[in-house]
Amino acid sequence: MGNQHANASSDLDRHLVVERLGKIFHQGTVAVPALVDVGFTASRGEFVAVMGASGSGKSTLLHLLAGLITPTSGSVTLGGQDLHTLDDRSLTLFRRRHMGLVFQAYNLVPTLTVEDNVQLPLLMERAGRSDPVKCAELLEALGLGARRKHRPDQLSGGEQQRVAIARALINDPSVLLADEPTGNLDSGNRERFCSRLRELAAAQRCTVVLVTHDPVVAMWSDRVLLLRDGHLTATLDRRDFSTAAALGARFHELVDVPAAAGTQA
Ligand SMILES: Nc1ncnc2c1ncn2[C@@H]1O[C@H](COP(=O)(O)OP(=O)(O)OP(=O)(O)O)[C@@H](O)[C@H]1O
Ligand SMILES: [Mg+2]
Repeated sequence: MGNQHANASSDLDRHLVVERLGKIFHQGTVAVPALVDVGFTASRGEFVAVMGASGSGKSTLLHLLAGLITPTSGSVTLGGQDLHTLDDRSLTLFRRRHMGLVFQAYNLVPTLTVEDNVQLPLLMERAGRSDPVKCAELLEALGLGARRKHRPDQLSGGEQQRVAIARALINDPSVLLADEPTGNLDSGNRERFCSRLRELAAAQRCTVVLVTHDPVVAMWSDRVLLLRDGHLTATLDRRDFSTAAALGARFHELVDVPAAAGTQA
């Protein structure tokens, strides 16, 4: 186990490989197949969007990619490291070193200022050091320059969301996993954030997996995975679409139709 982790840390080729990934939740006696046999790979620097109707398994997929929940079947390999063979502690370290996470609950620390929240991942490393320059640059880029000394309860929902984004980016992750990160953002901040992600993918070869309902956001990606009832039903090449409206229309055509009773194969 220790060895595997050492290998993963030194492995710079951090591709994401998802194989036959499945997750069944059990509610009492009922089994809910939230994700079924999902497989894809993403190379470094690739920006993948995930779309699907509510309940189609998008968050479940992201939580599995982050190693926050255990799959019922299949595997997630990041830079040669099979996540689910790591014990909890190694997984926490691996996540801290290699991943940036922006999930629906922002989990900001209420007693810390914006800049301390953003730098928290750095401080949690052994012999961790803050990076006020990088922090200031990120906050500026995300339109939060004037909010550095505020605490989370003094911020709007969209501002808190951007603090969570800055925190996810502070340690130059090799993989960024984001679940609906633009839900609370106005269009200006949405564009700023998306172009930042593109830059991150291109310049730092960070692999980005982003869940979104918004075709405008998905237009920033390279590839769009469409989930329906836990299945990966289609993969779209973003370059095949010249406008967000065209992508949105294709999405509705392919997945956004509630499965009618009795039509399952
Ligand atoms: N902890 C859980 N226990 C039981 N069922 C769950 C659990 N988490 C998710 N599910 C179920 O798994 C399915 C997929 O949920 P998931 O949260 O992945 O959907 P989603 O695509 O992210 O939806 P949304 O767009 O609304 O966020 C849903 O039917 C949901 O009810
Ligand atoms: Mg979700």
